[in-house]
Amino acid sequence: MTTIQMSVRPEDLSQVPTGAERIPEAGILVIFGASGDLTKRKLMPALFHLEQAGLLPGNFTIVGVARRPLGGEFAADMRQGIVEFGDVKASDPKLDNFVGRISYYALKFDDASGYAGLKAELDRIAKEKGIGANRLFYLATAPEYFAPIIENLGAEGMAQPEQGKVEVVIEKPFGHDLDSARELNRQVSAVFREDQVFRIDHYLGKETVQNILVFRFANGIFEPVWNRNYIDHMQITAAETLGIEGRGPFYEKAGALRDVVQNHVMELLSFVAMEPPSSFDADAVRREKVKVWRAIPPIPVLNTVRGQYGPGLVDGQRVAGYRDEERVNPESGTETYAAVRLEIENWRWAGVPFYLRAGKRMKKRATEISIQFKQPPLLLFKRMAAAGPCGEIQPNLLTIRIQPDEGIALRFGAKVPTTPEMAVCPVNMDFDYEAAFGKSSANGYERLLLDALLGDQTLFSHRDGVEINWALYTPILQAWAKKEPEVFPNYFAGSWGPECSDHLLERDGRAWRNDLGRKG
Ligand code: BG6
Repeated sequence: MTTIQMSVRPEDLSQVPTGAERIPEAGILVIFGASGDLTKRKLMPALFHLEQAGLLPGNFTIVGVARRPLGGEFAADMRQGIVEFGDVKASDPKLDNFVGRISYYALKFDDASGYAGLKAELDRIAKEKGIGANRLFYLATAPEYFAPIIENLGAEGMAQPEQGKVEVVIEKPFGHDLDSARELNRQVSAVFREDQVFRIDHYLGKETVQNILVFRFANGIFEPVWNRNYIDHMQITAAETLGIEGRGPFYEKAGALRDVVQNHVMELLSFVAMEPPSSFDADAVRREKVKVWRAIPPIPVLNTVRGQYGPGLVDGQRVAGYRDEERVNPESGTETYAAVRLEIENWRWAGVPFYLRAGKRMKKRATEISIQFKQPPLLLFKRMAAAGPCGEIQPNLLTIRIQPDEGIALRFGAKVPTTPEMAVCPVNMDFDYEAAFGKSSANGYERLLLDALLGDQTLFSHRDGVEINWALYTPILQAWAKKEPEVFPNYFAGSWGPECSDHLLERDGRAWRNDLGRKG
């Protein structure tokens, strides 16, 4: 397929705002669960990227909290994480100063008696550095500690202090079904007001995800055709080549539907399907997202597929099947692949199917949204095209590549030159993020951390949104739990998932798009 490149001119880039107007007030970021992978691999590099960009206040301070007695080792370990995962030079002149502002406090999360000490320590640091009373509590622990931490912060008067702004960021998973999500929301709202709560979904930190809104609402030509009159169907794929990366006990309880579909994929769906909000502020955007999710009728179990990988070849390497992974039940019924077909019953989308899938150990790493348009009413060149080199005329396809190869491509038919007949072949107009804007080492957490520090909830989930999504998926999870899957494993690692997933689309006369990634 022929590809036409599009890029921005270098002179345009000098106009990009530096974000200097968005510097949060001084405060302390307190990370609970700081000895875990997330802090070292994602949060610390992201915070340092913000520091490099001059987006953190000078005396911004980070306190890691976890059970183990770590002391000074902690800051050294974070330094190493920043260099390794943040694509940062060890000699970066800002690194020493930044790491010097990281400290550690050992605490058992469910031991209420330890929180007075934490409070005193934070007050001491604040006084010493002249920071004031702003605190951002980041909950990056195992989910069973979310409630005790929140309760203890409340009991110690740290959630609603007399002075200063206090916020809490809660990592996923936010509950494991509707009841547990409701219960957690209840526990959170007993201590914090909703405007203090930041439920994070790291997908919303990805530039390409935010760009969906820009693509749709900052351009005049797409929105008029963005509806059931012109769109045949949409597919959202979140395919990973990775397996479960040693997270057996977590994944056994989660599975692909809970881990990725119910949150990340549904967030993507809301961005491609929502109505234009009246402004880009948290309430307006979140209201429109919730409206999309609410318009989805219950998903029949018949419109769902689950799969589990067996051994196979991924990127030329032999890999074990899921049941042979460390700390996984050798007869596990946990799905590592999930697909659903759903509809959105509103004026814009009635009758348009949305096919969603997510899987581990798939053939290729690719998160993509493809929007297939309807064919024109009369295919003038149908016969000539069929006899030509590319065969039947293919419908227009708009592909939003979330990762990797971030970009957007539009496929359309072009006349094949020099043929006397009107032979038609598909070509691609391709916008490539890296070619246009250069390589970025951002991991998505930069934007979300900065927004949380600034108190901007636009890219965070509201309690209603979380509960609606659990309401949609809990019946499926319950139905799956009742009936053991007949044949697991049912796909080879390194394939495009189980065969039964193809039937989900074949029934409708459609097929999954498996030529994902950038063309040409
Ligand atoms: C996490 C899931 O939320 O998202 C992981 O728990 C998954 O299982 C990951 O691998 C995917 O995120 P990304 O940004 O690597 O696509």
